[in-house]
Amino acid sequence: MKQEAILMEPEKAPKKEAKTTKKESKQKDITVADLPGVGPATAEKLMLAGFDTVMAVAVATPGELVEASGVSESVSRKMIHAAREALDMGFFSGDELMAKRDKVIKITTGVDSFNELMGGGFETGAITEAFGEFGSGKTQVGHLLAVRVLKQCPEGSVVYIDTENTFRPERIAQFAKGADVDPQEILKRIKVARAYNSDHQMLLAEKVTDLINNQGLDVKLVIVDSLTAHFRAEFIGRGTLAERQQKLNKHMHVLSKLADMHNLAIFVTNQVSADPAQFFGDPTKPIGGNIVAHASTFRIYLRKGKKGCRVAKLIDSPNLPDNECAFFVREEKFEEFKG
Ligand code: GTP
Ligand code: MG
Repeated sequence: MKQEAILMEPEKAPKKEAKTTKKESKQKDITVADLPGVGPATAEKLMLAGFDTVMAVAVATPGELVEASGVSESVSRKMIHAAREALDMGFFSGDELMAKRDKVIKITTGVDSFNELMGGGFETGAITEAFGEFGSGKTQVGHLLAVRVLKQCPEGSVVYIDTENTFRPERIAQFAKGADVDPQEILKRIKVARAYNSDHQMLLAEKVTDLINNQGLDVKLVIVDSLTAHFRAEFIGRGTLAERQQKLNKHMHVLSKLADMHNLAIFVTNQVSADPAQFFGDPTKPIGGNIVAHASTFRIYLRKGKKGCRVAKLIDSPNLPDNECAFFVREEKFEEFKG
């Protein structure tokens, strides 16, 4: 019964989502309904399937649109083409990109080897995914980063999308003390939202744009902890892996766009599942597969190490060597492991 009550509420989410999107897309003067071949009924079907922005259509495959809306493949192709045209998905010159890179903020951890591992710190304009088993420290890293970025950016804000009810203001207060900043002041600048299911989680990620554009918050970091727990719980054993991956893809896309457009850092946590196919080495792999892997700019694998330390290993970074570092999660800070 209780379960049902929880699931009921966000049923409304897709409708709300569609509304916001329309408002948002108005700025670009084109909505999904304006694309060629999209009548009201098709628009509705696309919206319900999650293709509710021109961007979502632009990055879809024809097959996905066929499945979602029942239009023919050639119409799907036309829709995608028109969406891409409308969005001005153009090229940037190298120097423009360099100028963009100059604006990147690197959120430090207070642990030299951890900063070094991340090329100076956790970058804005990028998604960093931390995966690892329970208790490996993913949530702790999220809390620490929230405090550290707010110390670095005195006008900044943090958004924490909490899917597992593991956000702890007390923990923030402790890390704030450790970073020599006022816990109350820091807590005021962290906006926490509890996500009750995957739709709700996706909606909250889209709402971050509202916080920035309409409420004037200078969001520097968005944390999604955990990125995959709801998706994993909702889509298990239902033969709907494709649907799950499609939704996850869309969610990652929203996050990636946020990071890019507003030069903010995204930190997402991800569980691991036992992979029976792997007989050698570490028999765990992150949930979400390639979708999450490809959308993440940096991926760190967290695990428990010697003497209770935590080991962070950088995997698949675009410009940094794969490496690892070790640290302790202490009451008020992280501390270098000098083993
Ligand atoms: P799941 O969310 O269960 O997948 O785990 P996680 O990777 O998010 O683990 P989390 O970040 O919650 O790490 C838990 C570990 O952090 C604990 O086992 C402790 O070692 C450490 N920790 C958590 N809270 C405190 C605290 O208040 N003080 C200290 N010293 N360590 C803490
Ligand atoms: Mg956690």
